[in-house]
Amino acid sequence: MHASAPGKIILCGEHAVVYGRPAIAIPLNDVRARVSIIPGAPGSGVCFDAPDLGRRWLITSAPHDPLSELTLAILRQFGVQRMPDIEIAITSDIPIASGMGSGAAIATAIVRALASAYGRNLSAAEVSALVYESEQRFHGTPSGIDNTVIAYEQVIWFQRRSEPPHQIEPIAIAEPFTLLIGDTGVRSATRLPVGEVRRRWERDPSRYEMLFDAVADVVYQARRALAEGDRAALGPLLDRNQALLEEIGVSSPELERLITAARSAGAGGAKLSGGGWGGVMIALVEPETAQQVRQALQAAGATRVLETIVQAAA
Ligand code: MEV
Repeated sequence: MHASAPGKIILCGEHAVVYGRPAIAIPLNDVRARVSIIPGAPGSGVCFDAPDLGRRWLITSAPHDPLSELTLAILRQFGVQRMPDIEIAITSDIPIASGMGSGAAIATAIVRALASAYGRNLSAAEVSALVYESEQRFHGTPSGIDNTVIAYEQVIWFQRRSEPPHQIEPIAIAEPFTLLIGDTGVRSATRLPVGEVRRRWERDPSRYEMLFDAVADVVYQARRALAEGDRAALGPLLDRNQALLEEIGVSSPELERLITAARSAGAGGAKLSGGGWGGVMIALVEPETAQQVRQALQAAGATRVLETIVQAAA
């Protein structure tokens, strides 16, 4: 049984989305987590093999590992009484702790592979809910945007409500546009900046509520720019979002080096994407500027540069 799930980037609205503001997220189909389930020896139980994470473990020896817990929860939900003898092989080309949703993609691929192994047809919403539960347990206060964009595999508008269902809408994109994704190579687990923003918000709620409102304003304008195919408007909105993320306190010198390099080489706009403090940044490019922006990112120290063409789902 094989299944996969894409990576993701946040176009705009990260962090504020944890506090009920909208955000726009994009699946990254070219980088994926893949899971195969193969029969194990009788009596072997569930064994995970994840060479990209440098790990191999038995569910019984690490029952509180996030992926063990997720698997146990799925087996419980499926009404499986006896522990199966299976190997869950995990590979991924999404760098971990890079802001590209590697954890949620691996979890999603596991849910999909187990669902198909047990002949269950889960909707995107059901897959997303199972992954969210696991993310919530191990990452503090996730908004749910990562598991949602990865399970739906569409460009989405996401706004968290105090009670589900959250607002999840496919977004109109009048004209496809191209983003370059530059990896700082600095690994940063999302829960760390998310936790720090929460502490700052608790200390000074009115300042942070104001910043989050300003981010929401950018996200509404970005949605309009996408619907109208107005790339000239989108670039400055990305820049404005980056300025707000700097004020929120989740940028870093490495991210800003790449962002400045991209802008100087002709990108229409650039910002960090995801949790920040490391991980990736995105730059809006045109076909004629893509190559020079890519080279500028590499010269400024990007460890990897990906390109994605963003369009509405077919
Ligand atoms: C991470 O991709 C986006 C954050 O807003 C966290 C979250 O929404 O859970 C930083």
